[in-house]
Amino acid sequence: MENIKSKKIQNIKYNKDKIIVRIKDLFFYYTGVPVLEDINISVWQNDFLAIIGPNGGGKTTLLKLIVGLLKPSGGIIEVFGSSIEMGRRLIGYMPQNSTFDLEFPISVFDVVIMGRYKGTMVRYSKKDVKETINTLDTVGILKLKDRHIGELSGGQLQRVLIARALARNPKLLLLDEPTSNIDTEMLQSFYELLVKLNKRMAIVFITHDVGAISVYVKNVACLNRKLYYHGSKEGSLGKLAEAYKCPVEILAHGIPHRVLGRHGK
Ligand SMILES: Nc1ncnc2c1ncn2[C@@H]1O[C@H](COP(=O)(O)OP(=O)(O)OP(=O)(O)O)[C@@H](O)[C@H]1O
Ligand SMILES: [Mg+2]
Repeated sequence: MENIKSKKIQNIKYNKDKIIVRIKDLFFYYTGVPVLEDINISVWQNDFLAIIGPNGGGKTTLLKLIVGLLKPSGGIIEVFGSSIEMGRRLIGYMPQNSTFDLEFPISVFDVVIMGRYKGTMVRYSKKDVKETINTLDTVGILKLKDRHIGELSGGQLQRVLIARALARNPKLLLLDEPTSNIDTEMLQSFYELLVKLNKRMAIVFITHDVGAISVYVKNVACLNRKLYYHGSKEGSLGKLAEAYKCPVEILAHGIPHRVLGRHGK
C-alpha cells in the first residue's frame, strides 16, 4: 500500500483545477466479500459530483472511507494532499439516516454548533457562535435556532444536519442522500443552495434522484462495487445505457426523474 505522509495542510487557495481527493486502487471488505473493488477517482476543488447506484452498491461505505470512519483494506485515499487524519478537518459530512435521540433536550443551535467541535473539550468561542448563526442563515433555518430538535419536520431536520456539516466552513461537503426527506417543492431551493455553496467548496453527494443530475451537478459517477466514472454530465446520462451497461429507467414520482438499475458485470 502506498504510504501517504501526514503533511501539514497549508491554507487552501481556490484553484478549480486542483485535486482535493485522490482515490487510487481502493478495495474495501467488511467481511470476506469486497464491497468496493479497484476504485479510482479524483475530486476537484470546484467539483459537484453526484454518486448514484443501486442499494448496497457501496456508496455510503465510500463516503465513510473518505471521512476516515473506515480504513481502506487496500489502496490509498489522499485528502487535500495529505492523510485523512490531517485533511478531515476540511470536510463536512452529513451521514445517511443520522440517528440521535430526538427527546434529548437540545436546540437546533446546539446541534449545529457541534459541527465546529474540534476534538478537544474547550468552550465554544465567539467566532464559533458567529459562524453557527451564519450557517443557520445560509441554510434558511435561522428562525428555528431555538426550537427543540424533537419539534422539527423531517425536511427541517435534514437542513439542520446539513447546517451541522457546514458549520466548520468545509472545503469539501459530503452529503449522503440529503434529499430523502425533502418534498418536491423544497427540492429546487435545496439544489439552489448547493449550487451557491459550490462556489466556495466541492460537493460530493449521493442521490437516487437522477433527475437533479441533469440540471445541477457537474460530474456523475455510478457505484456498484466497482465505480464507473461518467465525468461531465453533458451527454453522460444519454450514454449511460449503451456505453457503460448501465440501464436507465424513467420513473414518475410526482416529477419525472430517472433511477439507475444494476450495472452489468
Ligand atoms: N457495518 C457493516 N458490516 C457489514 N456489512 C456492511 C456494513 N455496512 C454495510 N454493509 C454492506 O456493505 C454493502 C454496501 O453498503 P452501503 O451502505 O455502502 O451501500 P449503499 O450504496 O450506501 O446503499 P443504499 O443505497 O441502500 O444506502 C452492502 O452489501 C451492505 O449490506
Ligand atoms: Mg447508503
